[in-house]
Parts: sequence; C-alpha cells; structure tokens
Amino acid sequence: MRLPRHVAVIMDGNGRWAQKRLLPRSAGHSAGMKRMIALSEYLFRRGVEVVTLYALSKENLSRSEEELSALFTLFRTYFSGSVVRLIEGGVRLDVVGETELLPEDIQALIQEGKEKTKGGERGTLVLAICYGGRQDIVRAANAAVRMGKEVGEEEFSALLSTGAYPPPDLLIRTGGEKRLSNFLLFESAYAELYFSDKMFPAFTDEDMARALEDFASRDRRFGKVKGE
Ligand code: IPE
Ligand code: IPE
Ligand code: MG
Repeated sequence: MRLPRHVAVIMDGNGRWAQKRLLPRSAGHSAGMKRMIALSEYLFRRGVEVVTLYALSKENLSRSEEELSALFTLFRTYFSGSVVRLIEGGVRLDVVGETELLPEDIQALIQEGKEKTKGGERGTLVLAICYGGRQDIVRAANAAVRMGKEVGEEEFSALLSTGAYPPPDLLIRTGGEKRLSNFLLFESAYAELYFSDKMFPAFTDEDMARALEDFASRDRRFGKVKGE
C-alpha cells in the first residue's frame, strides 16, 4: 500500500466533543492531547516519516484566558512527560510557530524536548503551536528580502519553518469543518485532503487507518494526464 511520507493533521473538535458530554472544553483538549500522542505513535509505526499536528493556531491566541491557560497546562504536562516516549521510539520533536508568544517555561520545555530528541532517526513529530501559515510565508519572504536576492520555489520553501521536511502528502481535518484555518498554506499545494466528521478526541487509530487507505487509492497526477 502506498503510504504518505508526511501526514499533517488539523486536530479540530476538542471543545465540541467535551460540550456534548457536558464537560468543560479543557476536558476535550486533554482527551485530544492523549489521542494526538497515540495517533502519532500509530503513524510512525505504520512507517510515516513526518507527522505535523496543528495544536494551536496564532488565531487561537484570542481565545479566553481560561481556555488558553488550560491548554498551556496541558502543553507543560505533554512536553515534560511524552519526550521520554519519543526518545524511546526514536522520534525527533520539532515545533513550528511563533513560540516566543508562549509562557517562558513552556519555551524552555520545548527547547529541552528538541535537544533531547535530536538523535531520533525513525521520524519527526512537528507540533504547530502559535502557528499561522500566512505569518510564516510573510516571515520567509522577509528573510528572502534580507538575503538581498530573488529566490526560487525551492529556496523559498526552505525558508519556511517546515523547510526541512517534504511537503505534506495527506492533510487530515477532523471536526467536520472543511477549511485550512491558516495551516501549511504554501506546503499543502498538492496535499491530498481528507475530512472527517468525527471530533478529534473520537478519531481512532482505525479512523486513521481508513484515511491512509483512502490516500492509497488517490490518483496523484500533479497536473499531468494519467498514463502520459
Ligand atoms: C481544536 O479544537 C484544538 C484547538 C484549536 C486548540 P477546538 O478547541 O477548536 O474545538 P471546537 O472546534 O471548538 O470543537
Ligand atoms: C484550527 O481549529 C486550529 C487548530 C486545530 C489548532 P479552529 O477551531 O481554531 O479553526 P476555526 O476557527 O474553526 O477555523
Ligand atoms: Mg475548532
């Protein structure tokens, strides 16, 4: 079966998942975080090389202080606890986005997590936190201007925060909405899109397996005519 090298996931629906169960939205984020770890492990087991997960958008920073503080608490737990599992699994951690907007202790935990896992050769887990695709494109454009010369597509891609990775082959969004919400705008030019109505905490390994199967059945033409 043809597998994607890079799977990107917009983890949406945590809040609605919790609200339906009369739980606070933070309970949805907590369940979502657990699922996120399990799903990324599943994908690496299946042989995917890069998994990029949209954990917090730049725009999400305008949510209530209560919700953000619950999310930050989860990030603290996640970065302290799961890094060991990543190391054991041979997975490298990377974080893209404007992390300077995060509380300083979380920035330090991210740095530590990246350092400790940098030897991982089995795959890379990229977390997009305080991330915005447009902002990243503008940042890369400014970096190109500072280089003082015109750049081509490849050189420009390398200036993006995901520049070290191949572009996503499969982009999954859970939670029923069919939009990108400012995620990997440049990189997803030829990604196969997969939408699930399931809320992220309810998106199982089996659901992910179905998404991979669906991907394998897609005819990726990249502008060419089939068979030519
Ligand atoms: C996605 O779930 C996770 C984050 C944006 C942090 P939401 O929090 O957007 O959940 P819904 O879409 O409100 O259900
Ligand atoms: C997108 O979800 C961001 C993440 C999943 C981290 P949102 O719930 O913030 O997206 P919109 O606001 O519905 O577009
Ligand atoms: Mg949402």
